[in-house]
Amino acid sequence: MVSLLLLSTVFLLSVNKAISQCPPPSGIYLKYDGNCYSNGSYFWDNNIKPTPIECGLPGATMDDGQWIGPNGTVPCPGSNSNLNCNVGLSGASLSVHIPATFQVYLQPPGDGWYKCCLPTNCSDPNTNIIFANIFRFAQILSFTVTGLSSDMTVYPQEYKLICTKIGHGYYGISMRIGNTTLASYTYCIDKLICSPCPGSVLVSSTHTV
Ligand SMILES: *[C@@H]1O[C@H](CO)[C@@H](O)[C@H](O)[C@H]1NC(C)=O
Ligand SMILES: *[C@@H]1O[C@H](CO)[C@@H](O)[C@H](O)[C@H]1NC(C)=O
Ligand SMILES: *[C@@H]1O[C@H](CO)[C@@H](O)[C@H](O)[C@H]1NC(C)=O
Ligand SMILES: *[C@@H]1O[C@H](CO)[C@@H](O)[C@H](O)[C@H]1NC(C)=O
Repeated sequence: MVSLLLLSTVFLLSVNKAISQCPPPSGIYLKYDGNCYSNGSYFWDNNIKPTPIECGLPGATMDDGQWIGPNGTVPCPGSNSNLNCNVGLSGASLSVHIPATFQVYLQPPGDGWYKCCLPTNCSDPNTNIIFANIFRFAQILSFTVTGLSSDMTVYPQEYKLICTKIGHGYYGISMRIGNTTLASYTYCIDKLICSPCPGSVLVSSTHTV
């Protein structure tokens, strides 16, 4: 039973990107807008329109690489659910992006987890694999708890829940335990100072709050 809960938002700098040398000297990587992103990073469709996410494998020669998403393989060159794929000019790399066409976004069947396999396709057990989540609206990038007491019998308990969201600037958030509402915010808007919701903007270009 939680009797006292302190809800707050804290600056997090460990958002998405984490690799110092980009591209790395070896190993499969994801590169977007000059930065490398860790395995399992989130990308909002609006942000990859038209800046691509490049998946690459330094020092390799591409044999039969592949991006596979929720609606199956993205043909390369080609497109699936409005996600377009292009083959890199040298080495082993495959880039995906959404065309910069007015009102063209990722189609719903293509929303979710993608894996990029290089230098061979994903059916090869020896291929290299990296994951990316490509989504349409907003996503929870991370949800963490800090300041938990080491002694669960101490009462009352106080700790912080830190939720980081990325993507669309309009969102709502609510949290409850059973029927008890801990926090509930609706009609949140990232960019407005008068937004009814607390939070710190971490990366304004990706609407990370
Ligand atoms: C989903 O994949 C199927 C099979 O590849 C394809 O025919 C269909 O057009 C795809 N859906 C979208 C929305 O692209
Ligand atoms: C993957 O590659 C293997 C070996 O090159 C090939 O036999 C297989 O048909 C490929 N699978 C797909 C889905 O492209
Ligand atoms: C990415 O994560 C997946 C699943 O955890 C793992 O299978 C894969 O090897 C990882 N790739 C890299 C490059 O770390
Ligand atoms: C939660 O609310 C529902 C609907 O009002 C009720 O049926 C249920 O018993 C409540 N649960 C608890 C644990 O209070």
